[in-house]
Amino acid sequence: MTETTQALTGSRSIREWLDHPAGGPLLRGMLAAAGQDETALKPIEHFALQKLVELGGAQFPQADLDHLVREVNAGVLPGNDTEDDDATAQAGQWAERISDGRFSGKTVIVTGAASGIGRATASRIAREGGRVVAVDIAADRLDALVSAHPEADLVPVQADITQDQDIARIINAAGARIDALANVAGIMDDMTPLHEVSDDVWTRVFAVNVDGMFRLTRAVIPAMIAAGQGSIVNVASEAALRGNSAGVAYTASKHAVLGMTRSTAFMYAPQGIRVNAVAPGPVATGIEATFRSELGAKRLGPFMQMIPPVAEASQLAASITFLLSDDGTNISGAVLPSDGAWSVQ
Ligand SMILES: NC(=O)c1ccc[n+]([C@@H]2O[C@H](COP(=O)([O-])OP(=O)(O)OC[C@H]3O[C@@H](n4cnc5c(N)ncnc54)[C@H](O)[C@@H]3O)[C@@H](O)[C@H]2O)c1
Repeated sequence: MTETTQALTGSRSIREWLDHPAGGPLLRGMLAAAGQDETALKPIEHFALQKLVELGGAQFPQADLDHLVREVNAGVLPGNDTEDDDATAQAGQWAERISDGRFSGKTVIVTGAASGIGRATASRIAREGGRVVAVDIAADRLDALVSAHPEADLVPVQADITQDQDIARIINAAGARIDALANVAGIMDDMTPLHEVSDDVWTRVFAVNVDGMFRLTRAVIPAMIAAGQGSIVNVASEAALRGNSAGVAYTASKHAVLGMTRSTAFMYAPQGIRVNAVAPGPVATGIEATFRSELGAKRLGPFMQMIPPVAEASQLAASITFLLSDDGTNISGAVLPSDGAWSVQ
């Protein structure tokens, strides 16, 4: 094997940058200027540094990355030598493999399809031949999803799943046949313990994570009963499995998702409808978690140090589409943690 010296670019991992004699001090300097240290990057150290631009938004713009790369390469900005693709080398050894035609002939509704796990799920189903009704409140990001998949059968529907009239538009866009539903849309809370929770946070978190999922599923099930088949996957969370990964509003909402999953799986088993949940651990997406409670931060902080490496959204899409597809045959009422073994700690 010939050894090659590769330039330190945005496609090298954060760990490689930290271990590099010139890159390490530069990156640590940048972190220090932002009042942080490298422990903040520990859960994502396997990601390419470029990923920080995607995740950090205004906090770490492309210009800052270009500056670092130039500094470490004697003023030159070399091209990246690997593709920064969502679903490739950044997620360690795993690389997404498309199962051609797995969703051919099927209409699948995916909520939260404009970002993160929902986007990766919609993309995967579309690339595996499905007709995807892609639902989100964010019209511009839905357009971006459609533009990124010019060959795919993607039907964007800008809709808020908490609104009845929007639910009706989603069902209308899907048509008479609905083979599957991925309930992915969800929002975080502000990590507050019960006595500090505001009415606004409690109401908003339940409206999206529970009521929205309930309303859309209620609207979809009649088509599945009529067809004598259907598959539903509800996205829960590690917070559905334990009490120490979020505030009470998010935790209770995700426990409700499991209740809804189990009851629905039980009720409609005779009609051939499978209903399962996926409980993600940490995933690199657009979701935002703020700490608005000292008590919350103090109690949750030590457990945040123990989270497994952050996964790519495409890894969650792999878990969700497995249960959603016919490969999930005979599985209903299951809760699948997709969390790098976090739930067994
Ligand atoms: N990212 C994680 O670490 C993580 C961990 C555990 C569980 N989850 C769950 O995964 C799911 C997806 O989250 P993500 O991390 O991809 O977040 P994300 O913020 O990247 O994507 C969520 C999408 O849902 C959409 N959405 C929000 N409210 C909506 C509404 N009322 N109607 C329609 N669309 C709406 C948003 O616009 C956004 O595009 C959520 O249910 C979340 O609770 C995420």
